[in-house]
Amino acid sequence: MAFIVTTVEDRVATITIDRPDALNAFNTEVLRELLQEFMTIGHRTDVGAVILTGSGRKAFAAGADIAEMRDKSPDEGRSFAELGQMVTTTIERIPQPVIAAVNGYALGGGCEMALACDIRICSENARFGQLEINLGIIPGWGGSQRLVRLCGSGFARELIYTGRMVDAEEALRWGLVNAVYPQDELMGKAGELASSIAGKSGVMIQYAKACMNRAFDQDLAGGLRLEAGFFGLCFATEDQKEGMTAFLEKRPAEFKHR
Ligand code: CAA
Repeated sequence: MAFIVTTVEDRVATITIDRPDALNAFNTEVLRELLQEFMTIGHRTDVGAVILTGSGRKAFAAGADIAEMRDKSPDEGRSFAELGQMVTTTIERIPQPVIAAVNGYALGGGCEMALACDIRICSENARFGQLEINLGIIPGWGGSQRLVRLCGSGFARELIYTGRMVDAEEALRWGLVNAVYPQDELMGKAGELASSIAGKSGVMIQYAKACMNRAFDQDLAGGLRLEAGFFGLCFATEDQKEGMTAFLEKRPAEFKHR
């Protein structure tokens, strides 16, 4: 791959968007590679958690590639939105949790990629924003949907209508990120978080993710039915037997992810 670097170590995959000359902006090729990589990782049973980050010290991703977008027709614009949405939806749907380690600018489509991840943490120099309004467009990869769900309508509307950037501390206040670290500590902290998740039962993490993904799609009764169904499925697994037996025998559980 030309723009994506992936490493896998101890059940944690790290996917790095590697186009630093353009602040890791997403052109069609970057999106295609990301899509392929997330689909591949999603099928790997030896991966229990994923970290998504950007190369360099300046940007996670500065959004969709403006030079590529400028001359698009309406149909091409729609296709480009759909391609980006395929990536964000894939991030959301793969069985493993994805942690965005935001190491600088996360703007426009960059912010939207981070929003599709399960958890976001960032460095002190991170900046977030849906700047599309300044370019004469609106968010196209889920910003108008996921930012409202994650941070609430008032904050999302302000960001999307004004196109202003927020710093790491403000992002933390609004729940856009879970934690802020000095830049040199970010990847270590992301690794610790990912490892703590990857050490749990991969099956249970997958069930929990599937339930939470649906929390905004249906009414409470439907969501509770879904949860009860997955809860029942847990009892068909070796990991449930091991988890409870280990507790009763006062020893750490050794999950087999099945
Ligand atoms: N697309 C294409 N190229 C980009 C880019 C983008 N989104 N963001 C940065 N670059 C390029 C710059 O053109 C520049 O390239 P050259 O060196 O060849 O001139 C290089 O990256 C470095 O950028 P700057 O010189 O601008 O760096 P800076 O430190 O002065 O500014 C910045 C950093 C504030 C992030 C600024 O680059 C910027 O505002 N970028 C655009 C951010 C943006 O508007 N993103 C939203 C895109 S629209 C979108 O994402 C739609 C959607 O919902 C899918």
